[in-house]
Amino acid sequence: MKEKIDSNNIPHHVAVIMDGNGRWAKRKGAARIFGHKNAIQAVKDVTEGCAELGVKYLTLYAFSTENWSRPKIEVEALMQLLVSTIRGEISTLQKNNVRLQTIGDTQSLPRICQRELSEAMELTKNNNGLTLVLALSYSGRWEITEAVKKIATEVKKGKVDPDKIDQQLVSDNLNSHFIPDPELLIRTSGEMRVSNFLLWQLAYTELYMTDVLWPDFRKQHLFGAINAFQKRERRFGKISEQVKS
Ligand code: IPE
Ligand code: IPE
Ligand code: MG
Repeated sequence: MKEKIDSNNIPHHVAVIMDGNGRWAKRKGAARIFGHKNAIQAVKDVTEGCAELGVKYLTLYAFSTENWSRPKIEVEALMQLLVSTIRGEISTLQKNNVRLQTIGDTQSLPRICQRELSEAMELTKNNNGLTLVLALSYSGRWEITEAVKKIATEVKKGKVDPDKIDQQLVSDNLNSHFIPDPELLIRTSGEMRVSNFLLWQLAYTELYMTDVLWPDFRKQHLFGAINAFQKRERRFGKISEQVKS
């Protein structure tokens, strides 16, 4: 699969809705948490695959604003898993020149998660290979609402003229302002929805949905998705003849 990939057309930013852990576990007659634990290998594989191809940003939807409504025991297990995974993977991130970042309302995460995350971000801040962005306590509507608040405050202070508010200013005020819009979004487990992920940024993103459950997702599935992406014609509202080079 990798040989079929055109190295001149690699997406700069790949975003992933990692879905299907619970169903994967259920099929094995295990508890949902077992699925989350087995999701780590997929995260490692995809991170490695992106680094190999030269993708600059990989954003993983790890925990949504809405996921706080899950049973307490599952939320707690996910938070613990986050801490142990970061602890366990930090040396691999360093070795592979990966910089760790987050988007989302991370202040709402348990203290221990916040501490682990900031330590890992500090340690990896000078790595200049892949940037791995974890979306935690994140939702697109939360992010847009926060941006609106920031801009409104600037307007109130007289620092921003409402007539001067444009798309760039909105983008610049998003929590994810440091990441370019994704060219490719992958969602696993067969669901055909965006579930409040990167709503502003997905405006012209190519969507790739696969039935593979996240714990089964491997490098070759990533390569398959990038291969499918490279076959798409991205017209951005124009007609085919205008975009053919
Ligand atoms: C994705 O798998 C992981 C998170 C949302 C944290 P799910 O836990 O949503 O698994 P399904 O969709 O119930 O199978
Ligand atoms: C989306 O998955 C959120 C993450 C992958 C973190 P969900 O499983 O929460 O999505 P819905 O609720 O089924 O749409
Ligand atoms: Mg799900």
